[in-house]
Amino acid sequence: MAVPLARRAMLAGLAAIPLAGAALATRPALARGAGALKTAAAQGNRFFGSAARIDQIDREPELRAAILRDCSYLTPETDLKWAALEPQRGELNLRPADDLANFALRNGLRLRGHTLLWHKSVPAWAADQLAVKPDWQLIERYFASVMPRFGDAIDQWDVINEPIETGHRMDGLRPDIFLQAFGPDYIARALRAARLFAPHGLLMINEFGLDYDIPIEQDRRYLLLRLLEKLKRSEVPLDGLGIQAHLDLTKGPFSEKVFEDFLRQVAALGLRIVVTELDVREADLSAPLARRDRAVADLTRRYLDVALAQPAVIGVSCWGLSDGNSWLRAGHSSGEPLNRGLPYDEAFATTPMYGAIRDAFLAAPPRI
Ligand code: XIL
Repeated sequence: MAVPLARRAMLAGLAAIPLAGAALATRPALARGAGALKTAAAQGNRFFGSAARIDQIDREPELRAAILRDCSYLTPETDLKWAALEPQRGELNLRPADDLANFALRNGLRLRGHTLLWHKSVPAWAADQLAVKPDWQLIERYFASVMPRFGDAIDQWDVINEPIETGHRMDGLRPDIFLQAFGPDYIARALRAARLFAPHGLLMINEFGLDYDIPIEQDRRYLLLRLLEKLKRSEVPLDGLGIQAHLDLTKGPFSEKVFEDFLRQVAALGLRIVVTELDVREADLSAPLARRDRAVADLTRRYLDVALAQPAVIGVSCWGLSDGNSWLRAGHSSGEPLNRGLPYDEAFATTPMYGAIRDAFLAAPPRI
């Protein structure tokens, strides 16, 4: 369940009060206007959050300050993924996730549980075992070892991550280890199992490639909608859809109408929606900085204006807060310009994208 309005406003307020003075003294001036992202989000009864890693928070005081200033939710970037949690069978490495959860709790933040079943994060031993002898108990044991531990600190779970891949099957399901082991029913089974361990959590499917008006993403939206419909028809405990929103300036066009229709169809199924992993990949890193930043901010604003007009959208989370920590940095060689696709740049100055996110929250019709 989402955090009720009163509680959410209280969390945002409590976290903001002790920080305001320190934040103003040390932070660069905001791009436009004033106010932190979580505060702008809370005005419309929504949340703002970011992916985070506790090792980075511990190392970088600016990151820590930016998180405390802007976020009411954190998503563990890697520490809750199966391969990170249980690299060897039965040897749970819960320390980083615990530390992040403690940081969140101490500071009045909530966590998104990311993610239980993801084809890219299955420990080798589990993949081997599932290939030889599909045993659902393996999945249940894993859920049991992770989910209850965090109680209500985690109130949203990405139970299934990235289940759709076109080009294989009529139903669009990705032919991953879970499908191979348990058949297409693995999604319903996982959601039912997750409900037992998180009776009050918002149980979600999280997916990418849903944003643009291009044939492959049209297909992905279509196939995902059929999956969501089927699950709801079968009364599977599914509460929400996470839209990753890894935007990309080399892709397009983005159509307001197409995206709005998609959100409306998801909402009509009674599902909540979260923009879970927002960032923007740039097209031309050699263009003048102001033009680059404007392109990123403009796309962000267009995208969020549509998303936040849909009352089912309860919040937005970026995939990292600053370009210095972004996963888009992978493969970057020193000397090249860094991708600028997050609310803070590498030096922790706010980017025009910061202003775009805040302005979109402030302009959106409040959720009731
Ligand atoms: C990425 C992390 O950012 C990387 O650090 C990690 O190596 C791989 O995973 N979609 C998701 C996220 O759902 O979990 C991925 O995160 C990015 C794409």
